[in-house]
Amino acid sequence: MKERLQKILARSGAASRRKAEEFIRQGRVTVDGRVVTEMGVKLDPESHEICLDGRSLNSSEDKIYILLNKPTGYITTLDDPQGRPVVTKLLKGISQRVFPVGRLDLDTEGALLLTNDGEMAQRIQHPSFEINKTYVARVSGSPSADDINKLVHGIELDGRLTWPAQLKVLQASPRTSRIRITIHEGRKRQVRKMFAAIGYPVLALKRIAYGGLELGSLPSGKFRILRPKELKKIFAS
Ligand code: URA
Repeated sequence: MKERLQKILARSGAASRRKAEEFIRQGRVTVDGRVVTEMGVKLDPESHEICLDGRSLNSSEDKIYILLNKPTGYITTLDDPQGRPVVTKLLKGISQRVFPVGRLDLDTEGALLLTNDGEMAQRIQHPSFEINKTYVARVSGSPSADDINKLVHGIELDGRLTWPAQLKVLQASPRTSRIRITIHEGRKRQVRKMFAAIGYPVLALKRIAYGGLELGSLPSGKFRILRPKELKKIFAS
């Protein structure tokens, strides 16, 4: 059943109703790893990880970290009003209520982390940690060294410069090229917009690593549970 966020916080004993509103306004409350500052957001506490100052309201559940090779055609939200397949449907045998760390477009495949640890999800996504995300893009055409350099140094997207990126052309032909790109920002459809901005639309996109954690040979649609040592790799880049 959906309830207002401040009511859920108050009912959990984490804060009085008035304090709960103050905490939300101060940006101290996250839902599935994202800070929520609007008042009156309604959600079902059973299907979301709600944290105050990074601490989960339902902290009794064991923390789990999953690496999934998301196929295209799956959506990274927990439910979809349009009825498209959601990534959590692929997690057969996982009983914990996990949520995706960040997002991948419907038409993007590859590494997707899922967890029930709101604090960790927030750390991974917080810009101050500058966690690198590496993608392989198949683009239309063959960008020149000058074109590539524009993306390396940063270009203006939606009125803001992108941070410097690392790029390597893996294979080039006049019709299509494969390019590896590493960025630490997470703007919506950023890689697609970056290549489109220099005139080489993305035809296919795959995320191959979060920091030093690589997708490796995990087949499409399959997942594995990460060991603590692997989790550390995310921050080692
Ligand atoms: N950049 C994109 O354009 N799409 C993604 O899914 C991820 C990064």
